[in-house]
Amino acid sequence: MGRKTFYITTPIYYPSNKLHIGHAYTTVAADAMARYKRLRGFDVMYLTGTDEHGQKIERRAREEGMTPRAFVDDIVGWIQELWRKLDISYDDFIRTTEPRHKNAVQRIFQRLMDQGDIYQADYEGLYCTPCESFWTARQAEGGRCPDCGRPVELVREKSYFFRMGKYVPKLLQYYEENPEFIQPESRKHEMINNFLKPGLEDLCVSRTTFDWGIPVPGDPDHVIYVWIDALSNYITALGYLSDDPVQREKFEHYWPADVHVVGKEIVRFHTIYWPIVLMALGLPLPKKVFGHGWLLTPQGKMSKSKGNVIDPNLLLDRYGSDAIRYFLLREIPFGADGVFTPEALIQRLNFDLANDLGNLLNRTLPLIERYAGGRIPTPTRIQEPDGELRGMAAETVTRVEEAMEKMEFSTALAAIWQLLGRANKYIDETAPWAEVKAGRGDRAETVLYHLAEVLRITSILLQPFLTKAPAEIWRRLGLSPGPHTSWDSAGMFGTLPPGLPVYKGDPLFPRLDLEAEVLAIDEATGAVSRQGAEPVSETGEASPHSGGAAGAPENDAGAGCAAGTELIGIEEFQKIDMRVGRIVEAERIPKADKLLKLMIDLGSEVRQVVSGIAKYYAPEDLIGQRVVVVVNLKPVKLRGVESRGMILAASEGDRLVLTTVSDDIPLGTKVK
Ligand code: MSP
Repeated sequence: MGRKTFYITTPIYYPSNKLHIGHAYTTVAADAMARYKRLRGFDVMYLTGTDEHGQKIERRAREEGMTPRAFVDDIVGWIQELWRKLDISYDDFIRTTEPRHKNAVQRIFQRLMDQGDIYQADYEGLYCTPCESFWTARQAEGGRCPDCGRPVELVREKSYFFRMGKYVPKLLQYYEENPEFIQPESRKHEMINNFLKPGLEDLCVSRTTFDWGIPVPGDPDHVIYVWIDALSNYITALGYLSDDPVQREKFEHYWPADVHVVGKEIVRFHTIYWPIVLMALGLPLPKKVFGHGWLLTPQGKMSKSKGNVIDPNLLLDRYGSDAIRYFLLREIPFGADGVFTPEALIQRLNFDLANDLGNLLNRTLPLIERYAGGRIPTPTRIQEPDGELRGMAAETVTRVEEAMEKMEFSTALAAIWQLLGRANKYIDETAPWAEVKAGRGDRAETVLYHLAEVLRITSILLQPFLTKAPAEIWRRLGLSPGPHTSWDSAGMFGTLPPGLPVYKGDPLFPRLDLEAEVLAIDEATGAVSRQGAEPVSETGEASPHSGGAAGAPENDAGAGCAAGTELIGIEEFQKIDMRVGRIVEAERIPKADKLLKLMIDLGSEVRQVVSGIAKYYAPEDLIGQRVVVVVNLKPVKLRGVESRGMILAASEGDRLVLTTVSDDIPLGTKVK
């Protein structure tokens, strides 16, 4: 008793598909925060889970010929395995299909009906199934969902409604009195101006168009709106309205949440509907909702329906969880959008982990072995720049703490890396090998002690982010977890006990070959992060041609082929320079069974293009074909062979046909 609590949550994810690196991003960020608070002595509850009801999941299960339950069980197992691989330290995992959740949601609904916040009325509206949202005709301009652009359906039914409007003044007052409630702050203005000021309509909180949901108490033809069901997870997981007093105790203990970490697209649900439900239940509101930005690919937001998702397993299996966690938290300021590219990943791993951190370790430990008998030496000859290094170490602890309180993960990491940079420079400045040569072994030992101390301090500070390297660094420094590795000891330079035996070991983070790794990631992901890259089908298979600048990805709901394609303006289209070209040479690329190397005559030049059409065309059949070539793509190397452009093709299932042009069109003609 007595320890301060810290309750942090992620969104509960839809198990309608396997998750991608964007979902991992949220979960890793919340994990870093949970770990940080635990290190600071808080009694932490970190909750994540899955949002398993709704029409989309019901449909997906049907498509797979499974019951919804069996369908979600499979994916939830996959998700939990992913979190294990990413070292996610959640304290509870809630599934909305669990009895503890369903029972409590029904009780919540009943209570809201009993007190008149929920009432029954007729409803007619335009419904977007994938988004599970109703829209007015004005909102759904042209019969399309304003959120996702897919067609809406007219739905007419008797429904239950929540009187939202009544709570708006109280909600605005809460925003006013709690300026930190919505983070980053810019999102607050969006909520106020776009949603609250225009007035909040009553929300339809039941559905009859499908069965896979929690039945409305006493009216089983209706299921509870998935967002009411889902948002309630944050309290049902704590035993709210449970019959079990031990469970209910958790609610008293941890509620209200300290922070709900969510992606920016669902801030609205968490800062409007959710607080209103809580107000109606007479419960305290969460202290903070942090709406972080999106992880994008150069083609835009990652989404299954766009076919540009990156499976985190791929990266985890290749680089390990520390590397991926580090990249996600370091690369993108938390709150802003960021673009994932294989180059950025590999460069971060090389520059930051292999060079800065890895070098400090790989230089310091062998020097200790060589000049200090393999044991942490005693610092007896202190002189500048030792004081500066110590000062900077102390400052780094403060900077990390300040940044973490604001959930500025990249700032915290940047501060740690400044210290590492300073320490690497300190080795060169102090040149301990030269001191030994000059007969000042005590000075060399003092320097090495300082370096080891910086390693101890950084490894402590790194624990929220990296889950494996810190313990390994301690092992190499001869430290066992304990008082010398506590968070507080990071602020005390000189804590490392002299005499500990060090162990040099292999490099913790090997240097990666940028080109080879980029190629490997591109191949494994179907080059989804590449500009103008190939669309990926629902099964994760890269589509086999190099076309697809205007790919028509499958729609989540399985609707028509154009549905779900993001609309672009003519200016954007005009950026793509397409020309008529004639294939003059074609040959296979060794050890790449999908690729052909083509030489294409564009009138003014002959270009080399690598195309993934080897399964569909024999090289000799291609000679002389007039094709459409995208000529202003950034060059890429595929299997080490440079490709400067791509050719367009139509593909469907197992078929692929090149887009050709009749013979009388001159080479180099622009295609518009
Ligand atoms: N089930 C709802 C949430 C209910 S919470 C009461 C849902 N699920 S989801 O599976 O679609 O997950 C959405 C969340 O996943 C986002 O809010 C965000 O946290 C994370 N992300 C999904 N794609 C992402 C990116 N491309 N980039 C960053 N985060 C991403 O919405």
